[in-house]
Formats: sequence, C-alpha cells, structure tokens
Amino acid sequence: MRIIHSVKQMQNFSQRAHQAGKTIGFVPTMGALHAGHASLLRKCQQENDISVLSIFVNPAQFGPNEDFHKYPRPVKKDVLLAKKEKVDIILNPSVDQMYPGAEMPSLKNKAKKAFQPGLRPTGYLTSVHLGEITERLCGKSRPGHFDGVATVVAKLLNIVSPDTLYLGEKDAQQVVVLKRMIQDLNFSVNVKVCPTIRELNGLALSSRNQYLTDEQRRQSSVLYQALQMARKAIKAGERSAAKIERMMAAHIRRVKPTAIEYIHCVHPQTLSPMKALTGTILIVLAVKIGNARLIDNITVTLR
Ligand code: PAF
Repeated sequence: MRIIHSVKQMQNFSQRAHQAGKTIGFVPTMGALHAGHASLLRKCQQENDISVLSIFVNPAQFGPNEDFHKYPRPVKKDVLLAKKEKVDIILNPSVDQMYPGAEMPSLKNKAKKAFQPGLRPTGYLTSVHLGEITERLCGKSRPGHFDGVATVVAKLLNIVSPDTLYLGEKDAQQVVVLKRMIQDLNFSVNVKVCPTIRELNGLALSSRNQYLTDEQRRQSSVLYQALQMARKAIKAGERSAAKIERMMAAHIRRVKPTAIEYIHCVHPQTLSPMKALTGTILIVLAVKIGNARLIDNITVTLR
C-alpha cells in the first residue's frame, strides 16, 4: 500500500494505471474509518484492479460553527484499516494541495475562523453549485455544505480518474447531489451505492457517532425504529406523508435530549417533499442527540 500526498503524483499514478489497462475503484472519505467504510473498500477492492481511498477532511464542506476543528483524524488507525482491506493507494493531500493558496485557520488556533461555508480561498476560485437539491433537507441547516462536497468530489474525480466511485447509502442527499453533478458535468465514472452498515441496535455507522455517550448511543436506536415503523405503516396502507412524519417524530421524541431537525418523505431523485405517498419513497431524517447530528434514511417502494 502506498500513501500519496501530492495531487500530481496521484494523477501520474492513475494515468500509468489506465495506460496499463487497469481499472481503478475509488472510495472518497474524510477518514475516521469505520465498518461502513470498510464495506465500501472491500467491494471496491473486489471489483477493481486498483483501489484508491481518500481521507481528506474537506474544509469547504464545513460551516463556520461546525466541527471542522474537532473532526476526528485518526490517520494511523485509518492506515491499518486500509491495509486490512487491501487498499492500494491512500490519497491524503494537504489543504494547500487541494486548495492552493487557501488561508486556512490553524488547527491550534480555534478562535481564528478564516473560512466561510463554501470556502473561497484566495488562490482557488471555482465552486460547483447545484441549486435546489442542495438547499433542501440537510442543505437548509448547512448552507454551502453540498457545494463544498460537490466541489471536492469533482476535484477528486479529476485527480484519481476512477472507473467506479463507491458511495454509502447512508448519505442519501449526498448521493443524489453527486450523481446529478456527475451526469450534468459529464464525468466518465460509474457510481455504485452500497448499503448502510448498522450497529446491532440499528444506529447507522458514522464517524460522528464518536460524539455520542454510551447512553446516547443506546437511545439512538429510536431513529432506525422510527424508520422501520414508517415502512410498516406504509406497507399496511398509510398514504399520508404528514401522518408518517408525525408518527416518527412522536417515537423519536421519547428520547431526551433529542432535537429533530427534519423528518420527511421525499422523492428519491428530486428530494422534493411528498404529500400522498406513491411509487418509491425516500424517508429521511436528521436528529441531534447530545452533540451528534445523526442522519439516516430508508427507501420504501409501493407496487
Ligand atoms: O462523505 C464524505 O465523507 C464526504 O462528504 C466526501 C464525499 C468524502 C467529500 O468530502
């Protein structure tokens, strides 16, 4: 396994690999790897000649009051997990490699908040903006977040040149946004979306679960329970999105302290809210339990 820090070296590596007729699979992450990432890496390794993992913590997708500074960066542990999953290349560029000339706040000086959502560094001007689908759901409370995600993934695709991109189903809105960007900007890459991996109590694995106490981790089982209750009610004939959303909220509110950011039944491609449930329904939620903002979703298809 090789660790590459330089954008140019990664591009040269991928170019040589393609010239040699090899396929490249790519799993973009921000590190702090868990079993959910491991499942993506395993699939990537099985389906490609070369598997590339990136662990760049992208400042452009964090808002000024979000957790960029305290976001976990256990690089040594990540390297071990990557080795176990037979990753060929870890791409771990610096902020300056990705956004040349960007004035980044020092990680040690937390008071200095030099970047804004949708980072506009001095030596880097371009940003990918998708409009409405990035403004719904998580985009409401995290303005600029999906522009930051789309921008960095566009850059990573140009740097890694993968044949296939592996994404986790847990980040449903991210998947919709990135698929749309890939289509709109004619990136030549296949997208594979892999199922959410859950703890035994149903909690979807996420790097941010580290912010939960043991008690909160137990309590967070209400999220998946609420999603399952919704599925059952829809399958039993309930067709009112409002009723489903109210029922889920009531179940989740049994846990204190929780703050429900949103619970919605939406169209799986446009993310627009549904009133009467029909076809394929994406049920999404974002809930804060303690210091952790948790997201989860399921899809229900009516025949
Ligand atoms: O899902 C993530 O970890 C990030 O949003 C991604 C796709 C790696 C972009 O920074």
